[in-house]
Amino acid sequence: MRSSKQPAKLAMLLLLAFLLLCDGVGNVHGKTIHQNSVDLHALLDFKKGITNDPRGALSNWNTTAHHFCRWNGVTCTTSRPFRVSSLNLTGKNLQGQISSSLGNLTFLNTLDLSSNNFLGDIPLLGNLKELQTLNLWENQLQGIIPDALANCSNLTYLDLSINHIEGAIPQNLDSLSNLVVLNLAANNLTGTIPPTLCNITTLKEVYLDTNQLEGSIPDKLWQLPKMSTLTLGFNTLSGEIPKTLHNLSSLQNLGLEYNMLGNVLPLNFGEIFPNLLQITLNNNSFEGHIPASLGNASGLESIDLSFNNFTGPVPSTLGMLSQLSFLNLQVNSLEARDSQGWEFLHALKNCTLLETLSLSKNQLHGEIPSSIGDLSLNLQTIALGGNMLSGAIPPSIGNLHGLFKLLLGFNNLSGTIDEWVGKLINLQGLNLQQNNFTGSIPSSIGRLTKLKKLSVASNALEGRIPVSLGNLSELQELNLSHNNLHGIIPPGQKP
Ligand SMILES: *[C@@H]1O[C@H](CO)[C@@H](O)[C@H](O)[C@H]1NC(C)=O
Ligand SMILES: *[C@@H]1O[C@H](CO)[C@@H](O)[C@H](O)[C@H]1NC(C)=O
Ligand SMILES: *[C@@H]1O[C@H](CO)[C@@H](O)[C@H](O)[C@H]1NC(C)=O
Ligand SMILES: *[C@@H]1O[C@H](CO)[C@@H](O)[C@H](O)[C@H]1NC(C)=O
Ligand SMILES: *[C@@H]1O[C@H](CO)[C@@H](O)[C@H](O)[C@H]1NC(C)=O
Ligand SMILES: *[C@@H]1O[C@H](CO)[C@@H](O)[C@H](O)[C@H]1NC(C)=O
Ligand SMILES: *[C@@H]1O[C@H](CO)[C@@H](O)[C@H](O)[C@H]1NC(C)=O
Ligand SMILES: *[C@@H]1O[C@H](CO)[C@@H](O)[C@H](O)[C@H]1NC(C)=O
Ligand SMILES: *[C@@H]1O[C@H](CO)[C@@H](O)[C@H](O)[C@H]1NC(C)=O
Ligand SMILES: *[C@@H]1O[C@H](CO)[C@@H](O)[C@H](O)[C@H]1NC(C)=O
Ligand SMILES: *[C@@H]1O[C@H](CO)[C@@H](O)[C@H](O)[C@H]1NC(C)=O
Ligand SMILES: *[C@@H]1O[C@H](CO)[C@@H](O)[C@H](O)[C@H]1NC(C)=O
Repeated sequence: MRSSKQPAKLAMLLLLAFLLLCDGVGNVHGKTIHQNSVDLHALLDFKKGITNDPRGALSNWNTTAHHFCRWNGVTCTTSRPFRVSSLNLTGKNLQGQISSSLGNLTFLNTLDLSSNNFLGDIPLLGNLKELQTLNLWENQLQGIIPDALANCSNLTYLDLSINHIEGAIPQNLDSLSNLVVLNLAANNLTGTIPPTLCNITTLKEVYLDTNQLEGSIPDKLWQLPKMSTLTLGFNTLSGEIPKTLHNLSSLQNLGLEYNMLGNVLPLNFGEIFPNLLQITLNNNSFEGHIPASLGNASGLESIDLSFNNFTGPVPSTLGMLSQLSFLNLQVNSLEARDSQGWEFLHALKNCTLLETLSLSKNQLHGEIPSSIGDLSLNLQTIALGGNMLSGAIPPSIGNLHGLFKLLLGFNNLSGTIDEWVGKLINLQGLNLQQNNFTGSIPSSIGRLTKLKKLSVASNALEGRIPVSLGNLSELQELNLSHNNLHGIIPPGQKP
């Protein structure tokens, strides 16, 4: 053992000497050697903090075998004095604590330790003036965000999401005046959103969702000129979206879901945010009308305003949204009482990419217009349950061959379940329960061979249960109760 180590040591000495020579003749003393050894010791100290390395990610972190610039995950500056510029050990299942010795790697530009099992505190990195990317997402880090982080003034990308970080967002983060992406989502942060964040005019993406933040959204956050993604959902934020806002044409994704936000939306919502792609406001207490101006945000692909208190008509201007694929307005108090109130349904035929349309649990009255059959053939889900719909289902609904789910339960629909049903051959879920359907179940229902859930419970259906139900081999839930049906439930489907 002993004798075999000697040549290795010699090799290391030679290597060091070689590196020193590389550093240039004029420079072969003190400073350069010392700087390299600072990085070496910082890395070795970091390695000491790691208690488990199941995949051998650090197997070549060996002073005898390699210069540290060759160690897995380490990248050095390309010129003398060969300092560590990047440490990237993402997704290596590493366990342990992150040593604050990393704060000595003063040439560090990128630190990516994401998707590991690091515990303990966020390391103190306040001396890393060159650090541009800090990725610690998806670990088990605890404690608070250290004030010292504000010293890393070159940071452009800061991602601490999916950890157990507590405490407030530091007021002094606005020293990070180059920050472009700030992701603190899915932690345990408390307190308010510090208004000082709004001083960072470079910000493009801010993710603070899934924490315990409270208080209102600082007004100036709506004025950050480059903001394109703002996610504040799953907190307990209160207050409103200010009624007078400057245009913010950069904003594409807005997520405020599951908060306690309320009041009415600004009338010119779609004009101040003309480039929105996604807007998610569900599970708040927003009220008043859905602004017709939403139709001006012509790139909108996804709108979720469900579980609020919106009233009035669904604006027909939504029909101008040619990219719209997801429209969820369920559980509000939206009204349609006459042909004007139903105008939106005709308009939506222009949304040829529409896949989901949900208006369940609103105040929709009267007959379903037959123009429902002109909607996009891309439609997969129509949910109109829990309204006050009456009359017969228009046969044109049979045009919508792509439908996976048709949910019309808990209304006052009547007439017979007609031949339209047999045309919807892609249906996986059909709910017609708690209506006033009469007649028999048409045997064409047996064509819906993909059906998994079928309920026609609590209607006035009569006659024999069709034998063709036995064709529905995917059926998992079947409810025919509270009707006047007779016969047997044919075998074939799973119980
Ligand atoms: C970091 O540097 C300081 C001085 O600059 C030194 O005292 C400390 O020992 C170093 N820590 C490690 C782990 O290298
Ligand atoms: C370092 O590498 C040398 C040579 O490859 C090897 O003999 C030695 O056991 C290694 N040391 C550790 C701690 O892995
Ligand atoms: C770290 O390395 C992975 C590949 O292993 C790469 O996908 C990722 O972008 C790197 N991180 C940074 C911040 O460059
Ligand atoms: C912040 O940077 C300064 C040098 O600019 C340094 O003296 C100080 O120690 C750093 N603070 C922390 C908390 O790292
Ligand atoms: C920040 O990074 C730039 C390169 O993008 C560099 O020129 C500058 O010196 C760095 N600033 C500080 C304070 O280190
Ligand atoms: C947040 O804190 C609560 C109570 O302290 C704890 O139960 C919960 O698991 C924590 N959540 C996260 C994501 O750390
Ligand atoms: C940062 O924001 C705070 C609060 O919004 C403000 O009072 C302060 O003047 C701003 N600082 C700078 C340097 O802009
Ligand atoms: C805001 O946008 C609207 C509609 O795009 C436009 O008419 C108005 O002039 C803009 N206002 C400002 C201050 O840019
Ligand atoms: C929020 O949404 C869920 C469905 O995801 C619903 O069950 C719940 O009742 C809603 N809560 C509130 C307060 O609106
Ligand atoms: C909607 O408004 C009613 C009364 O106006 C209130 O009782 C209810 O809690 C509100 N719902 C939500 C989700 O805010
Ligand atoms: C639907 O499209 C037609 C033709 O492109 C257009 O004339 C009509 O105004 C559009 N309707 C709505 C509500 O956008
Ligand atoms: C069901 O429809 C019949 C007539 O078809 C009507 O007499 C009856 O009142 C309706 N029941 C309900 C609950 O609306």
